[in-house]
Amino acid sequence: MILPIYTYGQPVLRKEAEDITPDYPGLKELLNNMFETMVRAEGVGLAAPQIGLPIRVVTITLDPLADEQPEFKDFNRVYINPHILEVTGEEVSMDEGCLSLPGVHETVKRGSCIRVKYMDENFVEHEEVVEGFLARVMQHEFDHLDGKLFIDHISIMRKQMIKGKLNTMLKGKARSSYKMKQLK
Ligand code: NI
Repeated sequence: MILPIYTYGQPVLRKEAEDITPDYPGLKELLNNMFETMVRAEGVGLAAPQIGLPIRVVTITLDPLADEQPEFKDFNRVYINPHILEVTGEEVSMDEGCLSLPGVHETVKRGSCIRVKYMDENFVEHEEVVEGFLARVMQHEFDHLDGKLFIDHISIMRKQMIKGKLNTMLKGKARSSYKMKQLK
């Protein structure tokens, strides 16, 4: 089932999300719905707060990039209760967007390497060192679980430049090719 994506201004996007336990009701269906919603919206990542749930669950697909980076073929992963333990490596600037902020793209600086721990969909614990594009996507998605958005990382001047777009969202008048749950 495709779920509406909560847009900028929705309070759930600013909440600290909570860890879940294996008995979380309907988890399997929730994960299926998140994948379907993410793929339909052409996103590479989706965090549960973006569909209105303040829980630490993220889906990532890098499969759409497999044409250019074959190592991403069939990369479809679930991250439950993820936590970033350490950010290292040099800071890299890259253009980012977010399904909760349709039409906004800004350059964001992030560390190129992270150490993370998380559980997979079977609640098996993992600890990994991740680099490159996946490290970028993970940092963006896991930020959502701490109530953070990528625009929190841009300068006050850049934020001023996108104020009009943000206000459009706050008025519930944003447009996108996918179903949204806007304010108002
Ligand atoms: Ni996002």
